Amino acid sequence: MPQNTAIHLVRHLDTTPLGPQLFETRQTPLPTVADGQLLVRQTHMSLDPAMLGWMTSDRNSYIAPVELGEVMRSFGYGEVVESHHPDFQAGDRVQGGFGWQEYALVSASEVNAVDPDLPPEMVLSVLALPGLTATQGLLNIGRPQAGETLVVTGAAGSVGSLVGQLGKARGMKVIGIAGSQEKCDWLTHELGFDAAINYKTEAIGEKLDEVAAEGIDVFFENTGGAAQEEVYYRMNAQGRIVVCGLIADYTAATPAPGPNWMQIIKKRLLIQGFTMPDHLHQTGELLQQLLPHVQKGEIKYRAHVIEGLDAAIDGLQLFLTGENQGKLIVKL
Ligand SMILES: NC(=O)c1ccc[n+]([C@@H]2O[C@H](COP(=O)([O-])OP(=O)(O)OC[C@H]3O[C@@H](n4cnc5c(N)ncnc54)[C@H](OP(=O)(O)O)[C@@H]3O)[C@@H](O)[C@H]2O)c1
Repeated sequence: MPQNTAIHLVRHLDTTPLGPQLFETRQTPLPTVADGQLLVRQTHMSLDPAMLGWMTSDRNSYIAPVELGEVMRSFGYGEVVESHHPDFQAGDRVQGGFGWQEYALVSASEVNAVDPDLPPEMVLSVLALPGLTATQGLLNIGRPQAGETLVVTGAAGSVGSLVGQLGKARGMKVIGIAGSQEKCDWLTHELGFDAAINYKTEAIGEKLDEVAAEGIDVFFENTGGAAQEEVYYRMNAQGRIVVCGLIADYTAATPAPGPNWMQIIKKRLLIQGFTMPDHLHQTGELLQQLLPHVQKGEIKYRAHVIEGLDAAIDGLQLFLTGENQGKLIVKL
């Protein structure tokens, strides 16, 4: 009898350090498909820094934690192997919340059909969470104007690299902050960023004074850490700060203190956090904003693919060391 292999969360990250001890791999018979449901064989699974939050027991966040014993939550891409819904048939490509497992039993209303001619890596790197996040954060919250200066942290990551390219496409001057020379070179040589700062080796403030002497209009914050204050104190009047992620704090015992608020009044700053679960019902509109840039060839991506379901367990560490080069994807 065919089996499903799944990885379950068995300890929470706030009681146990990140590592294999948080998970258990289990095998179960493939489930029976009921009316309205699909059985999907997942081929590509997205890993996201947000998982570090979902793995804690925090019930005050924007989304409920993964309960102990549940299959670890994730989004992915796969092929329908059995359909009990008239809109889908075996062989269709779909994306949805499939979890860390080979096969997912899902309601047809919970998945989106995908053009089978698009590479799965492109779907997960651009048209799924990273692209939707970059579009909502930069275009709808950051309200970019041609000629303005944008600084993005985590700039070589899956979200940051799209944010910077959207900024360029909208006529902005774009400065990326990233954690290696290789990433900085990719930003300026391949993606057309105007400048990139290696926050691990360069004096961030001095470099910002050099490459953004005119001040900063939009700050897209993906990381927190040392860059945050340096960018914040260089914001122009009426500047917008889009708070998307603070990965520097995700596994810290105590979150970093914020900068002084006086600047918010003096510069009339708008600071807004956002989380994509609030906006997933707007996926169609967000794709309409993003797709023209993709079709004009203005958006490049790179996918960092690791092999095998088990690779997900150690894969999460790559976000914290910065070793992921682009969108982290597990190929099953
Ligand atoms: N609000 C939302 O709905 C939403 C949706 C998607 C993503 N996000 C957030 O957006 C951020 C980027 O996500 P992503 O999927 O695109 O990941 P990513 O940028 O592809 O990967 C994470 C990167 O963060 C950097 N990093 C790790 N620790 C750091 C530290 N202490 N200080 C500075 N940088 C550090 C590393 O790059 P370096 O080599 O440059 O250090 C690492 O490669 C994350 O914070 C994520 O949680 C939020």
